[in-house]
Amino acid sequence: MFANRVLSGMRPTGRLHLGHYHGVLKNWIKLQHEHQCLFFVADWHALTTHYDTPEVINQNVWDMVVDWLAAGVDPSQATLFVQSRVIEHAELHLLLSMMTPLGWLERVPTYKDQQEKLTDKDLSTYGFLGYPLLQSADILIYRANLVPVGEDQVPHIEFTREICRRFNHLYGREPGFEEKALAAVKKLGGKKAKLYQEMRTAFQEQGDESALESAKAILNDAQNLSLGDRERLFGYLEGGGRMILAEPEALLTEASKMPGLDGQKMSKSYSNTIALREDLDSVARKIRTMPTDPARVRRTDAGNPEKCPVWQFHEVYSDAGLKDWVVKGCTSAGIGCLDCKQPVIDAVQRELTPIHDRARHYEESPDLVRNIIADGCEKAQELARETMREVRDAMGLNLD
Ligand code: TRP
Ligand code: SF4
Repeated sequence: MFANRVLSGMRPTGRLHLGHYHGVLKNWIKLQHEHQCLFFVADWHALTTHYDTPEVINQNVWDMVVDWLAAGVDPSQATLFVQSRVIEHAELHLLLSMMTPLGWLERVPTYKDQQEKLTDKDLSTYGFLGYPLLQSADILIYRANLVPVGEDQVPHIEFTREICRRFNHLYGREPGFEEKALAAVKKLGGKKAKLYQEMRTAFQEQGDESALESAKAILNDAQNLSLGDRERLFGYLEGGGRMILAEPEALLTEASKMPGLDGQKMSKSYSNTIALREDLDSVARKIRTMPTDPARVRRTDAGNPEKCPVWQFHEVYSDAGLKDWVVKGCTSAGIGCLDCKQPVIDAVQRELTPIHDRARHYEESPDLVRNIIADGCEKAQELARETMREVRDAMGLNLD
């Protein structure tokens, strides 16, 4: 049993490139061995900005899943699914919308930023305003505690935490909470019950965070607790009522050092990318025609790596010896730019070769990819349903 549950999503925006690989996927591939991981295609999120071009969504979803698998995301380690196939996300989004103050959504910084940036689109829509709340539903429905995201998404995680607290505050109180919690403590069994109480006191009276962690560990290990009792005991620990939803934390992904071919950030909108499934000849061609230090007009002119995008590739791919060779050769005009680029070409090709091999395997078996996703959706849905039963119950929608 893993102690942490990790969840992350990506909007299907087309073929992935080395920027995604170095910025996101390598991190996922590492996390999948360390935690319980759920990774999903956020196709509804794509519709919030591409509602007028739905024809691209389908293709992009499958392309992205193949790119994940090709990169090494392993369906036997992580659960891979598509948001729109787990319709419970929509139900939770709707229910959360009942208690979400409009001002909270309007204040999320990405709301105005994106509206101003994407001027070719009319984003004064209900769906776009609700983007962060849909993201909250994605996270809260799995009670994920860690959400790997880039810096730009941190406000969305903060927002999710606030929604979570508000939800637990509004719906986590039940009549006779204290008695029910005490009864649940007894069910832990003598030794564990005593330890739990001690830890709770240490946290509540001295703010001892490590005691809080130990108490949570006791609850995580307790096999015989019902879901309701477990939530009660989590809630009882920190004071309030039941913790029906769990507060997530952003797991900040370090910004990728992977530059684009022109030295700017690698991004489709700058046309400076190397796709994960780019063929190797095209990779070589693109790197060979990369701009270099503009001061090196002739082969005999010395250059400065700091002013050259190729150098940034060396920073990603080359060891100290090779980098030393570049600096010396460039600043003394001892090497030409094509000489300098060759080891970069080799390194990128070496990195992409196993990715291409896996991609080919999955491209040749579309049914396999569909089965992986069908499996993942089923697993995700099971977890989502568990949470929804509690949420409906708490919100007065249990009609049994
Ligand atoms: N908004 C995220 C992005 O643009 C994608 C996303 C949707 C997501 N739902 C999520 C990320 C839940 C993490 C968790 O990158
Ligand atoms: Fe850039 Fe290398 Fe040419 Fe120097 S030698 S300008 S680092 S490509």
